[in-house]
Amino acid sequence: MRTSLTGHFRDQFPLTEQTVFFNCGAKSPLPLGAYRRLQQFYQENLIDAVLPRIQILEEHYLHLKTHLAQLIHAQPDEIAIIPNTSVGINIALNGIDLQPTDTVVLPKNDFPCNIYPWLEHARRHEFEIQFAGTFQHCTTDDILNAITPQTRVVSVSFVDYATGYCMDVARIGAECHRRNILFVVDGIQGIGVKELNVRAAQIDLLTCGGPKWLLTPFGIGFAYIRREAFSQIHPQFVGWLAYDWGDFTDFRSLDRQLRPDASRYEVGTLPHTAIAAFETILHDYFLPLGVPHIEAYLSDYTHELISLLESYGFRYAGPRAAHERSQILRVAAPGDTTAIYHQFRDHQVDISLRDGHLRFSPHFFNNGDDLDRLESVLTQLKF
Ligand SMILES: Cc1ncc(COP(=O)(O)O)c(C=O)c1O
Repeated sequence: MRTSLTGHFRDQFPLTEQTVFFNCGAKSPLPLGAYRRLQQFYQENLIDAVLPRIQILEEHYLHLKTHLAQLIHAQPDEIAIIPNTSVGINIALNGIDLQPTDTVVLPKNDFPCNIYPWLEHARRHEFEIQFAGTFQHCTTDDILNAITPQTRVVSVSFVDYATGYCMDVARIGAECHRRNILFVVDGIQGIGVKELNVRAAQIDLLTCGGPKWLLTPFGIGFAYIRREAFSQIHPQFVGWLAYDWGDFTDFRSLDRQLRPDASRYEVGTLPHTAIAAFETILHDYFLPLGVPHIEAYLSDYTHELISLLESYGFRYAGPRAAHERSQILRVAAPGDTTAIYHQFRDHQVDISLRDGHLRFSPHFFNNGDDLDRLESVLTQLKF
């Protein structure tokens, strides 16, 4: 085993015994600690219906918000728990009062999550979409150059799902702030593995699903809404839990005010099972390791992974500058890409196929052993 690359919490990821897993850009495996937490939750649910323990649920929920705030350098009252990334995009586009004279700037190559909700909304509300870059690529400069006096919102992915390109969100945020433009970021491909300070980057709304880099079960994510942006992003779906009901014994009133914090954007009863697991994951893995440490580890790891692949005729086809790189690696194959992809899968190397390239996306649990096993597969591939 390559001794310098030991990985983290390896024994918490039993699938690594069978599979060389480089596919967290698609869906991550659940760590054992989270699995045990879920088991415990369901076990308890067999013997009581949870409501008597509502205070415990509330504690997990508040702890989760505290951990998430720590992860991205925000305040807990700026965090809303949501089911997935798309819901956060919809909080922005439905909540901002967009007019026919407004434009929204989007990267042309972005994942559909940050394209289709805006397109659909633009058709109905007659505002304009201004695409930046091309279907292949969009840089920070492309976004900045697409901004005009009509721009009301800029919405980008922090890390691109296909190329691995990392937007300079701080530069975009500074420009948006200067021009009074709302800045929305889809963080799902970077949060947890790349350091981001949402306050310093002047992001108004960050949305992030949990099941990729944050290792959660399906159905949970979070949004950060900058406190100062609350007045410009109105909750469009309003649930009863957006109001404070004290001890939940008296609901007969018509004069409650929306909660003063980001829970005003949450709609109804939350997925408390997934919340318990998410809280465990942040508390047990991400916060002890720290995102800067995870990012540094993955920077070394991806360099080794690329040099190994290149020694077998593959070519790294992602961004070159250090500040534009991420843990998502776009790789050109030396032969029929689809056939080579299937050969990797047949040898239990779990990766993705995106835009005619192979996508390798390792996490902190990957280690030198995975590189050794990958090398042995590389020697067997037929081009
Ligand atoms: C950039 C990006 N945004 C969002 C998603 C998923 O969106 P959601 O969490 O709404 O399913 C993906 C999934 O691949 C993605 O790559």
